[in-house]
Amino acid sequence: MDVSKAIEERRSVRNYTGEIPSEEVVYSIIESGRLAPSAANRQPCRFVVVWDREKIRKIAKASMHFLSKAGVIIVGTAEPKLSPKWYPVDLGIALEHMVLTAQTQGLGTCWIGAFNEEEIKSILEIPKNVTIIAMIGVGYPKLIPNPTSRKNMEEFAYRDKWKNPYTRQK
Ligand SMILES: Cc1cc2nc3c(=O)[nH]c(=O)nc-3n(C[C@H](O)[C@H](O)[C@H](O)COP(=O)(O)O)c2cc1C
Repeated sequence: MDVSKAIEERRSVRNYTGEIPSEEVVYSIIESGRLAPSAANRQPCRFVVVWDREKIRKIAKASMHFLSKAGVIIVGTAEPKLSPKWYPVDLGIALEHMVLTAQTQGLGTCWIGAFNEEEIKSILEIPKNVTIIAMIGVGYPKLIPNPTSRKNMEEFAYRDKWKNPYTRQK
């Protein structure tokens, strides 16, 4: 599957079959995040890949309950002092690489920004100087949602100057 197809077909999947993905597939997902760019190549992000069912259950309780059926949860963290301005951007790039790689492997993902950070830090023994920015649930989709709406291109992008709608040129 090429990147544009993965982008087109990706949805936030919140309903998983419960089947556990293979170590190899999950490794390839994490590897695609490892290869992501970061500002000045500072690489301030670390990811905790959670396989342990008990920990997954506890994380689901501290965030979104549907995560309890995820195959794995990938918890995206960064040490802000390593790249004070860019760490959330770096995190987003790496995590979205993982989302798209998961998509190519037939897995569904959902970004998670709603969680109790202190609880999850405690579950995963994450130190105080590290912040959790976002997580993704990863699992085989039981239900693939319909696409959600997006702003149209004219509103989303401008050509050459502010508010000049971007349109396809012949
Ligand atoms: C940074 C970020 C945080 C999000 N947090 C949550 C969340 O906590 N819970 C949830 O169910 N979905 C969450 N989402 C998913 C969005 O709701 C979803 O991407 C959006 O509605 C568009 O739908 P789509 O992903 O299916 O295209 C989050 C997405 C992003 C990018």
